[in-house]
Amino acid sequence: MKQKILVTREVFDETIDFLNGHFEVESNQTDRLYARDELIAKLQGKGGVQTSSSDRIDAELLDKCPTIKAVCNTAVGYNNIDVDACTRHGVMVTNTPGVLTDSVADYSMGLIIATCRRMTEGEAYLRKGEWKGTFLKQMLGQDVHGATLGIFGFGRIGQAIARRARGFDMKILYHSRSRAAAAAENESGAVHVGKEELLRKADVVLLILPFTPETQHYIGAKELALMKPSAVLVNMARGGIVDDAALIEALKKKTIWAAGLDVYENEPRFNPGFLELANVVLSPHIASASEPTRQAMAMTAAKNLAAALSGQAPPNLLNPDYVKYLKA
Ligand code: GLV
Repeated sequence: MKQKILVTREVFDETIDFLNGHFEVESNQTDRLYARDELIAKLQGKGGVQTSSSDRIDAELLDKCPTIKAVCNTAVGYNNIDVDACTRHGVMVTNTPGVLTDSVADYSMGLIIATCRRMTEGEAYLRKGEWKGTFLKQMLGQDVHGATLGIFGFGRIGQAIARRARGFDMKILYHSRSRAAAAAENESGAVHVGKEELLRKADVVLLILPFTPETQHYIGAKELALMKPSAVLVNMARGGIVDDAALIEALKKKTIWAAGLDVYENEPRFNPGFLELANVVLSPHIASASEPTRQAMAMTAAKNLAAALSGQAPPNLLNPDYVKYLKA
């Protein structure tokens, strides 16, 4: 008899076809986010679940869903999942690294340029019918070429952004918990610096680091105050890494020049203060959202689930220690 699994949000037909080949599938193709109790009820009797980054998986849920053996997230980030709690419950956790690196790096360059060169503000101006002519001091922005890009988080995506930025003649600084291998630094000429030095020197400060309890409000009023008045902040990582209220204050007072944001605290109910500001480019957490990349993410998560429940090590297992807690 096939094991039962749950897919919590809409995925592509190809993903469902693949999963149907392995499991009895219950799938939420209506794409409505399940309420907590509903999710717990749907997970009864299921061996595994393919989650989205909006589904919260924690100890309380796992206690109530004892048949779950694998949680396979359809995202590279997994701050929605309490991985330690999963390990203690003998539950495997996987994510989707690699397949979205280039799409997120492409989008990051787009957000850097859109923010520095005021692209969405220019479009809004046109749409409102305010364009009466071209003049020398119109919509003056910051140059991207030749600017110093400071990247917080120098994993796969951070390095892919650095390589692209190098093509724009940007100078690259980075800060991460541990220094990257020399080959990764040499590819883009990236220089490892301290947090404070990066904030003081960068023209564009870009965040692509994991969201953990340690990186909660990693950028707040104190850090924003270290940035140049001409500097731009770009958040590609997770809401919660930036103190959004402090960022709004800095943008209002123009102690920094602008921000480009793909992620927010309390998504999708972001701070409405952003809407009142012209010097922020807002995008709805879509950096990985190209058709081929989202297809690849959904399929990667499904393949992780198929491997996990057939007794093989899933390719993107995050918590190999789960085996220590398996019940005999
Ligand atoms: C997107 O934000 C992801 O973590 O994949």
